[in-house]
Amino acid sequence: MQTPVRPPLLPDDADGLLKMAAQSMFDVFARTAMGMLVVDRDHRVVWISDGYKSFLPALGFESETQFVGHRVEEVIPNTLIPQVIDSGRPILVDLLTNKAGTFLVSRLPLRDDAGCVIGAIGLVLMDHPETTMQPLMAKFTRLQAELDAARRQLAEQRRPKYTIASFIGASAAALEVKRQARRVAGTDSTVLLLGETGTGKELLAQAIHAAGARAAQPFVGVNIAAVPETLLEAEFFGVAPGAYTGADRKARDGKFKLADRGTLFLDEIGDMPLPLQSKLLRVLQEREVEPLGSNRVEPVDVRVIAATSRDLAAMVADGRFRADLYYRLNVLPISLPPLRDRRDDIEALAEALLDDIARRCGLPVRSLAPDALETLCAHGWPGNIRELRNVLEQAVLMHDELLLHAAQLPPLGASAAAPASAPASAATPQPAAGSDADPMRPLPDRLADVEREAIAQALRATGGNRVAAARLLKMSRAALYDRLARYPGLESVR
Ligand SMILES: Nc1ncnc2c1ncn2[C@@H]1O[C@H](COP(=O)(O)OP(=O)(O)OP(=O)(O)O)[C@@H](O)[C@H]1O
Ligand SMILES: [Mg+2]
Repeated sequence: MQTPVRPPLLPDDADGLLKMAAQSMFDVFARTAMGMLVVDRDHRVVWISDGYKSFLPALGFESETQFVGHRVEEVIPNTLIPQVIDSGRPILVDLLTNKAGTFLVSRLPLRDDAGCVIGAIGLVLMDHPETTMQPLMAKFTRLQAELDAARRQLAEQRRPKYTIASFIGASAAALEVKRQARRVAGTDSTVLLLGETGTGKELLAQAIHAAGARAAQPFVGVNIAAVPETLLEAEFFGVAPGAYTGADRKARDGKFKLADRGTLFLDEIGDMPLPLQSKLLRVLQEREVEPLGSNRVEPVDVRVIAATSRDLAAMVADGRFRADLYYRLNVLPISLPPLRDRRDDIEALAEALLDDIARRCGLPVRSLAPDALETLCAHGWPGNIRELRNVLEQAVLMHDELLLHAAQLPPLGASAAAPASAPASAATPQPAAGSDADPMRPLPDRLADVEREAIAQALRATGGNRVAAARLLKMSRAALYDRLARYPGLESVR
């Protein structure tokens, strides 16, 4: 008589079933994973699978007894099993690299009936994942490389571009500026940089930051003249979440917050509207900001460097700049001399600028022939060092000669400040086209010619910077834009 085939015995209670499933899973993993180990609550290895034994030589062990019974962190370099036991949280998939190679691993905490962690299981799912998981690893490596590049770039951007040594000049006036800059760099006080357009205010602000105790922290600049008045407050103090209805509901940090622990460079401070001046004064006094739409103040630790090409004292006198803010900013003023007052520095400046231009454009370095230097020294430089840079850049781009002569310099335009000893060619104003051809032309036409030529010269002097050009001409930005629209061709002058 044949005995009937008995169906497999399944426990009839859920608990029993779960236990059986757990046991079965353990067996399957122990047999099929490349390696498996069990560690107790004290981090000691209590058991390893047959598969795991094959890793022992690569880990530097000759026998199982050198491994089992020892603390896991002592026998497996870089293992995270202790963290899994101590935190009770699994690490389902991870890459482990040590002297035995790189492995795809999984680590699970083991708990008793009361839920307390009593140890952990470690699984080696795969070795050499760099070949078996090639596509995933390639992606990982690429992302890692991108991350490294982005980090390097960010660090590079945060590093100020200039040091005090980048402020070229050995004239008495330049040396005095550098001496003052070094002195204020050692303090945390507010600095006010005064000087015409293009005299190096921004360069010096960065240099002062780089020479001070905050050098490793951010240097954040705001050009007040370039930000529309209605946006300035948000730009400075930030926006609380939901301050605006509609699309932009997210919080946004203001420049004060971004510069926290570093330096905030307030460029063109003379262009700050009066209502904002009082808010700025409050921030400077209280050292805290209140984001737009928020009712909370946040402390900020910021060193302020302000700059302007305007005559702030005169603006205070006619009520366009708050006296209290002026005194607050004017703690340590530094006046940058115009280039025409330090002509002895033109040669060294031109050399440094030519070097820099060549590096940036990937062209050979040019030098100046004596006649070119003479022409440069005779010019009045209303746009100062920025104008000098533009002139040299044009000469380099237009000509191939390694030695630049006066004839290769672009027309420098007239400038009232040119000294009497200047060669006639450089000091003679270049007449606006057609202006003197017919002395009986109507006066409005002749005035328009003069206006157009003055604007063109200012744009050339400032490299096309309209804010700076308007300032140079002592006209409002709106008026300048109006003339640019009126006189065709001016738009592209730089
Ligand atoms: N002493 C200097 N040595 C070398 N380069 C300088 C020096 N001063 C200014 N420059 C260069 O001249 C240009 C203008 O300088 P910067 O932008 O600092 O002037 P600025 O005073 O801020 O002008 P603006 O008022 O128009 O903003 C930059 O290219 C800068 O590198
Ligand atoms: Mg500037």
